[in-house]
Amino acid sequence: MPSAPVPGPRVVHVPLTDLGGRPGVEEVRVWVVKLEYPPANEASLLACLTAEEHDRAARYKVARPRHQFVTGRGLIRQILGACLGVRPAEVPITYTGAGKPVLDGGELHFNVTHTDAVALLALATRPVGIDTEQVRDLANPDGLVQRFFSPAEREAYRNLPPQLKRAGFFHGWTCKEAVIKAAGLSVTCLESFDVELDPARPPAVIAARHAELADRRWGLAAWEPVPGFAAAVALGE
Ligand SMILES: CC(C)(COP(=O)(O)OP(=O)(O)OC[C@H]1O[C@@H](n2cnc3c(N)ncnc32)[C@H](O)[C@@H]1OP(=O)(O)O)[C@@H](O)C(=O)NCCC(=O)NCCS
Repeated sequence: MPSAPVPGPRVVHVPLTDLGGRPGVEEVRVWVVKLEYPPANEASLLACLTAEEHDRAARYKVARPRHQFVTGRGLIRQILGACLGVRPAEVPITYTGAGKPVLDGGELHFNVTHTDAVALLALATRPVGIDTEQVRDLANPDGLVQRFFSPAEREAYRNLPPQLKRAGFFHGWTCKEAVIKAAGLSVTCLESFDVELDPARPPAVIAARHAELADRRWGLAAWEPVPGFAAAVALGE
């Protein structure tokens, strides 16, 4: 069913020196982490994790994804711990059925995304999802559009002028991921909603056919968190 446009949330970039503070109702607080220069050393980030998270970190065979997990989870625990007034390792994080990590009790909502170079951490008072991608040339963008975008999005992509296709692709991709992550769903739902693909128009969910997406309205914001990266955040109404 077509969705009425929802105003996008206000994205507030917060410096990594300020891990405290609660978001306003229409606001998503976002921390941008350059993974090459994390704001804390690995030992102090590991000290923020639970025993279960230590086990998960130890199971990574490759250093880069391990570093992404330890940095993202360690910092989000510091941010939540500062809000809740508890030690980072004591922040009660649990998982939904599709594997979304959430704060037990639902008082605050968070989400994390990482690329090889950059991680973004989002904090809000309502369900939130965040995604970022490095904007780059792809070997077969049309094939990815065919595979991951809905029929309406495929048509919108075809109609974009050539000079907007790359931006439109990453705009659509990050918006779709942000919506899925906000709702705590999985990529199996990609065909069941449509987002605005034209980066020159306000980001929006145009139609939602999946019950869990249609039952709630989702505001979207899209921006460039660091040069050369596209990011989107979705916030449940
Ligand atoms: C798992 C998924 C939610 C995101 O995966 P991703 O884009 O590879 O990864 P990101 O870096 O953006 O996000 C990973 C983080 O999201 C969180 N996460 C995991 N499962 C989640 C879910 N179901 N919902 C919301 N957040 C989730 C976790 O915090 C995870 O980081 P962590 O494992 O270090 O804690 C899922 O959408 C996926 O598998 N995507 C694959 C990419 C794809 O095909 N995209 C098509 C877009 S059109």
